[in-house]
Amino acid sequence: MKIAVPKETKEREKRVALTPDVIRSLVKSGFECLVEKDAGLSSFFDDQSYISAGAKIITDRQSLYADADVVLKVNPPVPSEISFMKQGSVLISFMFAASNPELAEACAKQGISSFSVDAIPRISRAQKMDALSSQANLAGYKSVIVGANALGKIFPLLMTAAGTIKPSRVVIMGAGVAGLQAIATAKRLGAIVEVSDIRPETKEQVESLGGKFIELEGDASIKLEGGYVKNVSDDFLKKQQELISKHVAEADLVITTALIPGKKAPVLITEDMVKRMRMGSVIVDMAVEQGGNCTLSEVNKNVVKYGVTIIGEANLPSLMSLNASELYAKNISTFLLHLATKDGFKWEMEEEITKGSLITHQGKIVHPSVPKPVVA
Ligand code: NAI
Repeated sequence: MKIAVPKETKEREKRVALTPDVIRSLVKSGFECLVEKDAGLSSFFDDQSYISAGAKIITDRQSLYADADVVLKVNPPVPSEISFMKQGSVLISFMFAASNPELAEACAKQGISSFSVDAIPRISRAQKMDALSSQANLAGYKSVIVGANALGKIFPLLMTAAGTIKPSRVVIMGAGVAGLQAIATAKRLGAIVEVSDIRPETKEQVESLGGKFIELEGDASIKLEGGYVKNVSDDFLKKQQELISKHVAEADLVITTALIPGKKAPVLITEDMVKRMRMGSVIVDMAVEQGGNCTLSEVNKNVVKYGVTIIGEANLPSLMSLNASELYAKNISTFLLHLATKDGFKWEMEEEITKGSLITHQGKIVHPSVPKPVVA
């Protein structure tokens, strides 16, 4: 089997799908690895380190795709990349196929099988393949660092001869993978941390990290399923906004991470709430690409509104490309070795991880989450 690793072309993307270390072990297992020239450079892996690990460097992008039995990527491919792939070959990358049905259609039309790493079921035996978690964990850390960097203040209590500096107050909305890492990081830096989430089990997790949980009574509109929030009404969100408003107004840094899979992110911070925040405070909106938890955030921009800096960096993991690529490479290679051997894919169609993550196969869209095209 020939594995191809292209250079990521998405703007601001610095990650790469495989690192030299992971390539070395795949080569040992009998795979042939082709890596596009300079694919790892932005993650600080040069071509020579890939060659030393046993990979072949390919300059011609089109032939890299055309030669591959399986293409490993970070970001969803663009149409030209799909058109280069040969029929019957396999693509593995983030696809977010539920909100990206044209991509699934293009893969089906080209006759390639595609697996989306974001659709891998979050079951214990798939933990090593869980790229959503590995990247969210790093992003949670970085959200605190970029937020702290934009503040005109330090985090910890400091008593000096020149006076006492009060600790910063950090409010974190959403205590999933990213939120929990953000809590731990902000605590380590010495801030007072308050947290809001609507899954009841998060209270204990927040408190075990030293965060203060903002109590909020749920209502019947909140639907939870498999550890995720599936639905929440606008009325509930209004109630939540009112309750957290005073915590947000007193915060120096607010980090929002709240997501509802497959839907637009819930609005947690309105323009009015931003107006009531102190001048110089900062919001990091980690949900910005899914529509934003703050109504004023803008994708990949830092904007200042009413004296508040709102950071809309959509690709925080890319800012730590070395670690993010290392973890992603482990995730995706474990996934590949689950699905295939050096001789080909196993196609165990009823196996839970295969079934949960396979988007297209044999010219058809096979994943139930992909919306069907509307027939006129
Ligand atoms: P996510 O990225 O979908 O959401 C982030 C957080 O936002 C969640 O904690 C959610 O409850 C919260 N949220 C949604 N609406 C909110 C609102 N209105 N206000 C405040 N918070 C709100 O979630 P993530 O981080 O991808 O994972 C969450 C779940 O998945 C957890 O139950 C986690 O334990 C589980 N998980 C399981 C794994 C496994 O078993 N292998 C691996 C990773 C996560």
